[in-house]
Amino acid sequence: MAKYIITGGNRLEGSIRVPGAKNSVLPILAAALLTDEQSVIRDCPNLVDIEKAVGILRAVGCKVKIEGGTIIVDPSNITTHIIPDEYVKEIRSSIIFLGAMVARAGKARVTYPGGCEIGQRPINLHLKGLEDLGVNIEESYGYIECKESKLTGADIHLDYPSVGATENIIMAATAAHGYTIIRNAAKEPEITDLQDFINAMGGCVAGAGTSTIMVEGRRPLRGADHTIIPDRIVAGTYLGAAAITGGEIMVENVVFDHVQPIIAKLRETGAVIRASGSAVHIKSKDRPFPVYKTTTLPHPGFPTDMQAPLVSILTVARGTSVVVETIFENRFKHVPELMRMGADIRIDGKTAVIQGVEKLRGAEVLSWDLRGGAALVLAGLRAEGQTVIDDLHHIERGYERLEHSLRSIGAQIDKVED
Ligand code: EPZ
Repeated sequence: MAKYIITGGNRLEGSIRVPGAKNSVLPILAAALLTDEQSVIRDCPNLVDIEKAVGILRAVGCKVKIEGGTIIVDPSNITTHIIPDEYVKEIRSSIIFLGAMVARAGKARVTYPGGCEIGQRPINLHLKGLEDLGVNIEESYGYIECKESKLTGADIHLDYPSVGATENIIMAATAAHGYTIIRNAAKEPEITDLQDFINAMGGCVAGAGTSTIMVEGRRPLRGADHTIIPDRIVAGTYLGAAAITGGEIMVENVVFDHVQPIIAKLRETGAVIRASGSAVHIKSKDRPFPVYKTTTLPHPGFPTDMQAPLVSILTVARGTSVVVETIFENRFKHVPELMRMGADIRIDGKTAVIQGVEKLRGAEVLSWDLRGGAALVLAGLRAEGQTVIDDLHHIERGYERLEHSLRSIGAQIDKVED
């Protein structure tokens, strides 16, 4: 099993580029199924989750070429409506293929995606939205069978602004007769990127980024050439690496508006942050200020995917901070590992109370999930001595060659194979 070995204490300095957003590539690869013409998707990071999504496209009959960060999808010959089990079990986000497959093939079959490290991850909102559009859904033996006799535009209200449910419904609605309205829709930037891709295909989606989205169905869709938006969570993680080490870096390829919630929070730690074209410059305090209270919320609230990195930063703040995780029920698994490094954190349900300490000590720690693993890397960059992080496969699902990127701005980090 690969490990990171980090020797902490270096202030990070230099510039670093953010790749395209994993959570935008995944739904857009699914949306490529909405037409039988070739699409070109640019600035895709080389990540395990994206490899798996490409595997799903190939398994259902698409020809897919990967040239550097560009993925070329030829969906002209779909051979099955069945999303292969092995992919769904490996990446639960493969549920995002459901809406696109129903739109393309008139039916879809997928095994129930399990929960994951951070929570039970139900899909009731996805299924309700598809049913509202007229999809007949049967659940048996752990499979979800979707058949549509006639997809019809509907006025759909989401109980919760689920990112995945919003994306699935948008994709299915492109094949529905008439107009679909999605109310209480997720407002994440990745939804807007999906809207832009579908509109580039000749579709008509409007309102992404707001809580009410409209989709005009049954427009003829053609292939599109699309560049993925930068990954706001990777950008936030890099900014966090500067903040925890008292560093000063330039983060290139950032949409400033997408990282506003993260920047506002890092400014509360005392960092001085300014936009510079499509880059963001951060100059951090040697030791961060505490942050009275942070609550994770749907966009444009503070993103749950940045909760763990923020907790790491606050472990060395000059006082007490509170972080409340409201999105997922099991997203504090990095906390016991941070405590092995000398952090002083008390968890009470959804709330973490973080008493800042002068120093963290290097230790051998375990990465339990993607963003928790990134949080441990940040803590290792600050800690005295050596930190060893086991079980890198979680981190490598969301961060492309993280060790190379951080080394390029002065971190002492190596990846070693067991
Ligand atoms: C997306 O997951 C992201 N994944 C997650 O990023 C991110 O944390 C999450 O949105 C929130 O921003 C991808 O885009 C591939 P949700 P998703 O549906 O779509 C509940 C990462 O680290 N819910 O908005 O699964 C759910 O249980 C990953 O890159 C239902 O109750 O998130 C959760 O509590 C982790 N019923 C909340 O909504 C449903 O049908 C938010 O989930 C769907 C969701």
